[in-house]
Amino acid sequence: MTASIIDGKALAEKLREQVAEHVALLKSNRDLTPALAVVLVGDDPASQVYVRSKGKYCREVGIESLEFKLNANVREDELVALIKRLNHDNHVNGILVQLPLPSHLDPATIINVIDPQKDVDGFHVTNAGRLATGQDSLVPCTPLGCLLLLLRHYDQDLSGLNAVVVGRSNIVGKPLAQLLLRENCSVTIVHSRTRDIEDITRRCDILVAALGRPQVVKENWVKPGATIIDVGINRIQQEDGKIKLVGDVDFDSVHHVADAITPVPGGVGPMTIACLLANTVRTCCIGNAINAPAWLMD
Ligand code: GUN
Repeated sequence: MTASIIDGKALAEKLREQVAEHVALLKSNRDLTPALAVVLVGDDPASQVYVRSKGKYCREVGIESLEFKLNANVREDELVALIKRLNHDNHVNGILVQLPLPSHLDPATIINVIDPQKDVDGFHVTNAGRLATGQDSLVPCTPLGCLLLLLRHYDQDLSGLNAVVVGRSNIVGKPLAQLLLRENCSVTIVHSRTRDIEDITRRCDILVAALGRPQVVKENWVKPGATIIDVGINRIQQEDGKIKLVGDVDFDSVHHVADAITPVPGGVGPMTIACLLANTVRTCCIGNAINAPAWLMD
């Protein structure tokens, strides 16, 4: 068997087109331009790349991108003051604080200062709690992107499928488990302390790898015919010295066993950005008491 490729790049492109059309409607009908404020603390090179990329995609769909770059040793009260200012700025619809933060700043404290209605990342405890209790909420972008890929692959019906999420982060693993549960999957979360992990993952129809370590998920982790979503983006050095981007799944071995698999790059990554743009439009609708179109709702 050779797995079919789940094309995240193509679905993300479609979603970005829909976002651009809705942004144009907001402009022509309501004279509104959605605006996203991105706060970057310090000079982590990977974060700088992500923030630049977010800005570029925002502009492409007509969303205004505002960037706030702060020194790595900024004090907590200074960062909190900036977020509060953005909370009260009616021109700003979405607020995103790029993670990781320098070690002297507690991410939970900082994120929970963001107005939950402007929390495009869906990380605020209010949004996490609303998602966990089945209430309408802003949903974290990477899990939302994974869900949209799965829904399309299974023709919008995941009911009764066994899903395993490898990784228990607040950013991906936990919210994705909630989303899959909401779609009536039976969900297991496994992590670094799980015993006999392969015995669990081998029983599942859907395997989502979100551990943040390169090529850990091997052929013997996978049930024949399973669907694999690879959230990982890892840079590894090859024998010839060149840097290669790989996922958390060992693609070369797993794609012989699986029915379908997301590639890295071109799988979950582009969906994350597209979902961020969709969430920003959603915050603009929320902030202006406009009903968001159904496709924007997770
Ligand atoms: N760092 C890595 N992923 C993310 C994300 O989805 N949102 C934010 N704010 N920071 C991140």
